[in-house]
Amino acid sequence: MKKILALMLAGCMALSMVACGGGSTEKEPTEEPKTEDSKEEVKPEDAAKDDADKVEAEVPAGGKIGVCIYKFDDNFMTTYRNALQTLLEEKGYEVTVVDGNNDQAKQTEQINTFITQGVDALIINPVMPSAMATTVAAVQSADIPTVIINREPTAADMAPFNRCVYVGCDAAQSGTFQGQLILETENKGDINGDGKVSYIMIQGDPENIDAKLRTEYSVKALEDAGVATEQLNLTRGDWDQNKGQEICANDLSQFGDKVEVVFCNNDAMALGALEAIKAAGREVGKDIYLVGVDALDAALDAVQAGTMTGTVLNDAQSQAEKAVSCMEELMNGKTYAEGEQSVYVDYVKVTSDNVKDFIK
Ligand code: BGC
Repeated sequence: MKKILALMLAGCMALSMVACGGGSTEKEPTEEPKTEDSKEEVKPEDAAKDDADKVEAEVPAGGKIGVCIYKFDDNFMTTYRNALQTLLEEKGYEVTVVDGNNDQAKQTEQINTFITQGVDALIINPVMPSAMATTVAAVQSADIPTVIINREPTAADMAPFNRCVYVGCDAAQSGTFQGQLILETENKGDINGDGKVSYIMIQGDPENIDAKLRTEYSVKALEDAGVATEQLNLTRGDWDQNKGQEICANDLSQFGDKVEVVFCNNDAMALGALEAIKAAGREVGKDIYLVGVDALDAALDAVQAGTMTGTVLNDAQSQAEKAVSCMEELMNGKTYAEGEQSVYVDYVKVTSDNVKDFIK
């Protein structure tokens, strides 16, 4: 039995090496699979033995889980994937996390490799949600329970497979909270008192519906409250800190004091924008407002220091917990009815008043 397992394991490792490019995966395919401490035959100290012993290690009772991340080089998804990996490993699963490098063709190949390896469940952070109909068809034909995270596909894309669920947040809520953060300032964002809030919008990758809805609902919150708005510019910053800085610097030099509010679809871009704001000699809270989403550690520090007006907690830990519990329910036979395949975790508004509660 052990021999067979060992052979299967070795085969899987070879396959994953070919398809996942080895170096780009967080766990090297040749790495020893994680093993539960409680397993009778393999004790933790045995795990340090030679290679021959390594392939003898049995797959934990929990099973094999493939986790596909759209790209490792994303501040928020780094926190999220670390939380996911820790949770899964603590539960005794054998986890392989792979980096899609923001390349859908690569991610499709990784998913197909996991399917060939016969993983017990998949957790997928899509590169392109628009490719999810094809992915759902693939996991359905292999009948692999699948949790999609962070980038929400359409309900129609998930509908064909009732062992598939999306776990994320309601992006509209985060946009509304960003608008409220501006409404809660002493002049409701109208710093120069000209009767309207003039803003620039630094947008994430529109492939993620979070980008579209945060852009829409942040401004809608102001307008719904009767505050007039003027968009000076909207630029795609792809969730990236350097791009956020560059865009904000350009906008500040183009529009100068006209810019009263800098809306960023995430904190990474807001932290970049903050550098541009400082370099332009502007001061957050005095002559400009700046908001983001995610509550990254550096953004929490900035909110506490008053160099960001506020942010919105995108709760990576709770989403990771929900993703794992949904995965386990699917593995235990739960199915999701059409139209009920999205499960949301709440966002939380973070201001200087409550930021202490979020700093670890
Ligand atoms: C986060 C961004 C992140 C993106 C990745 C969003 O929910 O707010 O920081 O870059 O997800 O898809």
